Amino acid sequence: MILSRMENSRLVEAAVLARANAHAPYSNFAVGAALECEDGTVFTGCNVENLSFGLTMCAERVAIGTAVAAGQRAFRRIAVVAATDVPISPCGACRQVMAEFHPALKILSATLDGKTEEFTLDQLLPRASTGILNRP
Ligand code: THU
Repeated sequence: MILSRMENSRLVEAAVLARANAHAPYSNFAVGAALECEDGTVFTGCNVENLSFGLTMCAERVAIGTAVAAGQRAFRRIAVVAATDVPISPCGACRQVMAEFHPALKILSATLDGKTEEFTLDQLLPRASTGILNRP
């Protein structure tokens, strides 16, 4: 899904809509994500689980992969939504993938009942890959 630039609440709403497509028969834990690019376009993702559990893709990585496949590399914010009591924070694998493209990405996490929390990727994954292949 591609949408024009939007307010926080609209970005969260795009993640809510994407969450409805989650394929989560093993955990029954549906997650939606909406990634806003620098040019304002938005790509969404949901978690896609697999019987071979380790192949599961988180909503955030699906959104990032979809955006990259469409030629996008510069991201501004990502909204993540789950039906939890407190807003979730992305798993370590997703943090690493976010750092590949935007070490200072803003993460907006929301519950279905409207609680929100904002992080930067710098807070969640400081010094991501510093030194590896001479990365600063
Ligand atoms: N999951 C996500 O999609 N994003 C997160 O930030 C946390 C976890 C998914 C992976 C798995 O399908 C389910 O939630 C339970 O971990």
